[in-house]
Amino acid sequence: MQTFTSPTELHAWCMEQKRLGRVIGLVPTMGYLHEGHLSLIREARKRCDTVVVSIFVNPTQFAPNEDYDAYPHKEADDLALCQAEGAAACFLPQPGDMYPQDASTWVEETRLSKGYCGAQRPIHFRGVCTVVAKLFNIVAPDVAVFGQKDFQQVAVIRRMVRDLNFPIEIVRAPIVRDSDGLAKSSRNTYLTPEQRATALSLSRSLFAAKAAVDAGERSAEVLETAIRQTVTAAGWAPDYATVVDAETLVPLQQVAPGASAILLACRKDGLRLIDNILL
Ligand code: PAF
Repeated sequence: MQTFTSPTELHAWCMEQKRLGRVIGLVPTMGYLHEGHLSLIREARKRCDTVVVSIFVNPTQFAPNEDYDAYPHKEADDLALCQAEGAAACFLPQPGDMYPQDASTWVEETRLSKGYCGAQRPIHFRGVCTVVAKLFNIVAPDVAVFGQKDFQQVAVIRRMVRDLNFPIEIVRAPIVRDSDGLAKSSRNTYLTPEQRATALSLSRSLFAAKAAVDAGERSAEVLETAIRQTVTAAGWAPDYATVVDAETLVPLQQVAPGASAILLACRKDGLRLIDNILL
């Protein structure tokens, strides 16, 4: 496996891969890889000849009060995992490799990024779109794989790709959960045992909502109320619990099976967790 820190060198290597006729897949990550990330690499490997994994904790998507400085790292383990999964290259730039000191250009999606997590984190998706657009320019992938865990992120990136004509297929890979239902996240490392136990209320409430839909329930209000009650009873304060159109993220009053999702974000003790389910 090749490792790169320089965008220019990675770009040259990717161009050579293209010249050799290889289909390139990109898996953008912030490192501290877990089984969820590995499933993204496997998905990319199924579809592509050459898989590039980027590991970059992107400063521009963190607000000053967020966990940029505390974000967990384990670079040597991450590299070993990428190699074991058959990635052809890993890209580990430093912030200075990605952002010139006087960088003054942003990529901003202005509709899907505004509600839900965007309402709590006003600069987050601008940072995500900017860094993902840069990675797309550096790697020029045919396919890029993102996790469904960050449902709004994938919707925003799909919109950016459509609006800016990136010739890239965006794959949304299913959430990977621990056996008890908790959605895998690098930030789960912040949870105390008590917080982790009560955090299961998020997935439990979503599974119950899906079961209700499968049994015929269509009212978003009924589903959202039940979810709020379940997480609140477990001590988590819902930021939002919303039935949405899976592509546009517009809130729905009635579930449209096959085209809807429920987005959920909850807070407790200064921690914030997100989860979602497709209906
Ligand atoms: O989902 C993430 O880990 C990040 O938001 C991403 C897509 C790698 C951009 O920094």
